[in-house]
Amino acid sequence: MAYGRVAFVTGGAGDICSAQTRALVYLGANACIIGRNAEKTETVARDIAKVRKGAKVIGIGNVDVRNFDNLKAAADRCAAELGGIDFVIAGAAGNFVAPIAGLSPNAFKTVLDIDTIGTFNTVKATVDYLVESASKYPGASAAGADPNAISGGKFIAVSATFHYTGLPMQAHVSAAKAAVDSIVASVALEYGPRGVMANVIAPGPIEGTEGMSRLSSTDHVADQASKSARQPGTRGGSPSIPSGRWGSVRDISDATVYLFSATGDNVNGHVLVVDGGAWRRQGSAISVGLDPGMEYPNFLLAGEMSTKLKGGKSKSKL
Ligand code: HXC
Repeated sequence: MAYGRVAFVTGGAGDICSAQTRALVYLGANACIIGRNAEKTETVARDIAKVRKGAKVIGIGNVDVRNFDNLKAAADRCAAELGGIDFVIAGAAGNFVAPIAGLSPNAFKTVLDIDTIGTFNTVKATVDYLVESASKYPGASAAGADPNAISGGKFIAVSATFHYTGLPMQAHVSAAKAAVDSIVASVALEYGPRGVMANVIAPGPIEGTEGMSRLSSTDHVADQASKSARQPGTRGGSPSIPSGRWGSVRDISDATVYLFSATGDNVNGHVLVVDGGAWRRQGSAISVGLDPGMEYPNFLLAGEMSTKLKGGKSKSKL
């Protein structure tokens, strides 16, 4: 599906984006993954390259999406070494659990800088390459085209669902991701006429990821699993999610393959939620930073959150 195409992926060494990249490389693409940590980024790139003989996967470390010049240099290097950029995934993100009372102005700004400004920077650094790719690979709908042709010039931002309802202790991420969705809508409108398809994938809780270890208490995870085990007919993981389970990185890489294959050639400006219906029960199916038994609004009024979070603080700054 992606033979010889080139993917440029920010946050590409992370749990979700490395799985997306791995799927594209398995299906024939080459890739550049971008990250802040050079060693981690280069190690993950080498590992992804093993998925297909002859695959080229370049890890470009020491690049922070908040720094446009570094990001642009990485995109230019990717295009120079791999021959262009056909697919872009803006996946770099930052998160932690904190109520507004515990968010300094700089804490709020930091997440907007990484998620929102980082996504905008990624668009600016790569969109000319995407326009070029769309022109080079117009897809099956072009006059006289191979009916199996797949169009080039495709962009995905990895977002979230928190902002659909708002979520306690995620004011910063909700604002940042709402803006990410909005940026993608603008890309779809402004660059769709040039053949670029821009979409959002909004994952729900994805098991085994850095994000979930930061957001979900280990006690909450265990509680959900044990409740699920007691209920025949649920598929495991989380009985309060309509599909009966937390997502997997495979769910997100499958959605990526859908958008970057011929199946996605006329999908533009879409938000593809991949969460088993969880956002429709937000607050019951998805709660961040809470242990079992912590109820809204009591934890807020008490200024408490779970201490069983990776990178979390023992108490809010209330
Ligand atoms: C309150 C906090 C905080 C916390 C940091 N800050 N952690 N405030 N509670 N737990 C504040 C700091 O005090 C500081 O404000 C400001 O945020 C910036 O902190 P730094 O550590 O200087 O920032 P930086 O080194 O740039 O790190 C960014 C980060 C960090 C976001 C804070 O966690 C990070 O690098 N994360 C990247 C990895 C990550 O988060 N992955 C998970 C993504 S999951 P002051 O005022 O003191 O200067 C995800 C899932 C979305 O996005 C939804 C899925 C369903």
